[in-house]
Amino acid sequence: MKNDIFEYAPRLSRMKASIIREILKFSSRPGVISFAGGLPSPDSFPLKEFEQAVKDTIRQDGIRALQYTVTEGIPGLKKCLCQWLKKQKIFAEPKEMLLVHGSQQALDLLGKIFLAKGDYVLLENPSYLGAIQSFNTYQAKFVTADIDRGGIDLAKAEKQLKARKVKFIYVVPTFHNPAGVTMPVERRKGLLRLAQKYRVPIIEDDPYGLIRFKGSWVPSLYSLAKGKGVVYLSTFSKLLSPGIRLGYILAEEEIISKLVLAKQATTLQANTFIQYAVYHYCQHGYLEKHIPTIVKDYAHKAGLMIKYIREFFPPEVQVFEPEGGMFVWCILPKKLKASKVFERAIKKNVAFVEGSVFFPKGGGENTMRLNFTNSKDSDLKIGISRLGNVIKDLL
Ligand SMILES: Cc1ncc(COP(=O)(O)O)c(C=O)c1O
Repeated sequence: MKNDIFEYAPRLSRMKASIIREILKFSSRPGVISFAGGLPSPDSFPLKEFEQAVKDTIRQDGIRALQYTVTEGIPGLKKCLCQWLKKQKIFAEPKEMLLVHGSQQALDLLGKIFLAKGDYVLLENPSYLGAIQSFNTYQAKFVTADIDRGGIDLAKAEKQLKARKVKFIYVVPTFHNPAGVTMPVERRKGLLRLAQKYRVPIIEDDPYGLIRFKGSWVPSLYSLAKGKGVVYLSTFSKLLSPGIRLGYILAEEEIISKLVLAKQATTLQANTFIQYAVYHYCQHGYLEKHIPTIVKDYAHKAGLMIKYIREFFPPEVQVFEPEGGMFVWCILPKKLKASKVFERAIKKNVAFVEGSVFFPKGGGENTMRLNFTNSKDSDLKIGISRLGNVIKDLL
């Protein structure tokens, strides 16, 4: 790849603008009802509590908070988070944690330390677009295993693992993005057995696990594996704010030490000020108090979206009703392409994401991802009824 003077690296050819980020530009226009992004509800941001945490940061840690800090992350916050994670039955020591700029950076750092050009990664089909983008940067090759209402198909996963050496398996086992599904415990154990049998590590991405509004808690792969052979990622993006760009990685100490090297070379450290602010926020117990309010709000919004889908969509559309998280996944009859629905929907000022973008090797043209967290109740009704009309017309 060439410019007149500059010559780009070959990896650039694998970097594509996220279609979702492109849709976000359109959907921020006034009057547009967007089910496209994965944005938390604007009403969910705890402004007062965060203001208090920021004030405490300035008053109690002002100088430290404005200074560089260690790459691993400030010890106080890591300790506090490890205690909080214990309550979710996730047991990790601060030395097994790295604070990063959100899970998206975690994916990039993992690509950096694990992937060489041409390495295979096993992904769920469909899979989180940001992970596909990130691993693409490192010129990975993808193999996939389909998911159903219980997550990754183990027989298909094993077929892939048997056929070639895979560098790692990447999964979102709880409230999947985009499909909303959750892997039951038995399937988690099955996946861990496969990973052990073929000696492949698992990356477990869990931004939504605490946003459960139905059904019962399922242990993480990381805790089932007692931290061995699994790297766990989570983030404050959906529980506090995506704008603060803070997340964390849990892994065996040796892997954390390699990630620290990669992080040093990338951004030196996560934002010190934000780390202190989140530390104070957690110390006040605000995080624990805030999560039930998000769950309640999202339970309500998910319930409304499902209700309107049942009311306005034709019965041929298969709907994956989530027990938590932020997305409803729909499968249209095979003959109807979501791109056709999208074309007409945007003319009616409604946006969503065509599911095909989440299929690393193509396919899924008749699927749609709908986000329910960032729309007002009234817009849920109007938007879903407009979409329903478009689908009925096209059918
Ligand atoms: C599965 C998954 N992983 C990672 C991310 C990125 O999160 P963050 O904002 O922490 O970078 C998202 C965001 O939507 C996600 O859905």
